[in-house]
Amino acid sequence: MDLSVSLAARDSSQGLGPGFGLNGLPRPAPPKATKKPKKAVLFFEVEILDAKTREKLCFLDKVEPQATIAEIKNLFTKTHPQWYPARQSLRLDPKGKSLKDEDVLQKLPVGTTATLYFRDLGAQISWVTVFLTEYAGPLFIYLLFYFRVPFIYGHKYDFTSSRHTVVHLACICHSFHYIKRLLETLFVHRFSHGTMPLRNIFKNCTYYWGFAAWMAYYINHPLYTPPTYGAQQVKLALAIFVICQLGNFSIHMALRDLRPAGSKTRKIPYPTKNPFTWLFLLVSCPNYTYEVGSWIGFAIMTQCLPVALFSLVGFTQMTIWAKGKHRSYLKEFRDYPPLRMPIIPFLL
Ligand SMILES: NC(=O)c1ccc[n+]([C@@H]2O[C@H](COP(=O)([O-])OP(=O)(O)OC[C@H]3O[C@@H](n4cnc5c(N)ncnc54)[C@H](OP(=O)(O)O)[C@@H]3O)[C@@H](O)[C@H]2O)c1
Repeated sequence: MDLSVSLAARDSSQGLGPGFGLNGLPRPAPPKATKKPKKAVLFFEVEILDAKTREKLCFLDKVEPQATIAEIKNLFTKTHPQWYPARQSLRLDPKGKSLKDEDVLQKLPVGTTATLYFRDLGAQISWVTVFLTEYAGPLFIYLLFYFRVPFIYGHKYDFTSSRHTVVHLACICHSFHYIKRLLETLFVHRFSHGTMPLRNIFKNCTYYWGFAAWMAYYINHPLYTPPTYGAQQVKLALAIFVICQLGNFSIHMALRDLRPAGSKTRKIPYPTKNPFTWLFLLVSCPNYTYEVGSWIGFAIMTQCLPVALFSLVGFTQMTIWAKGKHRSYLKEFRDYPPLRMPIIPFLL
């Protein structure tokens, strides 16, 4: 512990004496030298243990009380350069939640000697790179099937075109969806996390790329048959798709406006003047509701089983995430609107 004490002010006046000024007149009594309060600067000690083995990895002496977890991660990196800050998860409990980068040491429930547990999150990759890779894949893969490049449907179909209007419309919708997502990733979303584990990209790409290839194979197949109720079914499906795309985009814009550029602020989202955002009255994650709606529209339009399965898997995944986000909102905001459900109004 280091205590720094300020010195009291010194009276440096000279001449007749302490009661007179240089002109010989009594001078007003000097203000009483006020003793400045002692300023105690208390430092913390931080020991970092491996969360699995409890082995001591690092001991940081004299850490400022106002130090953030991000700063502690930087100090830790100096002794272990292989674990750059984005790879590190620091926790108060070996099996507990990761502390946030902006958490301040002196506000944590620790003494002046804090023990933090470290977990290696593995190699990291930026979110933007992940999303661009995930979304560019389906866009490109679908078009390979649409243009019937060689080695997919047999030689005689190479670069032929489907005679069904719905096949062309489906290609436009599919491409539009992923171009929109790419543009939103680049210009709309304000992510709070810089990186995610590299291994996730393999999992996510398998999901998106695999489903895109499976769907595209059937929809663009030379033997594909258009939907049962013809143009009426396609028009209805297109309307659902377009409305949901607009809704999804509107929600993304509303979420963006909640967070000033460069910040990680999280607020309760509320409906705005845009009617598509009114779904916020009933659900916590309307962007997922609209996303599922888009895929249902696409499934009705193409009447294709792999599309229906993709919608179902996407719905299951987004429901899990929506429930998690809904729980976090309830925990974080006491005044969270009670009527809201995670993803489906009044139901789920
Ligand atoms: N087809 C599928 O299987 C599938 C699956 C998932 C997503 N998607 C699509 O991808 C889109 C984006 O997905 P996502 O999971 O990233 O959506 P999300 O969690 O709702 O986030 C969208 C953006 O808004 C920010 N945000 C969310 N809530 C916020 C709040 N309360 N205050 C301030 N900012 C907030 C997020 O920042 P953070 O970085 O802090 O989260 C992120 O930048 C979805 O809307 C959907 O269209 C599709």
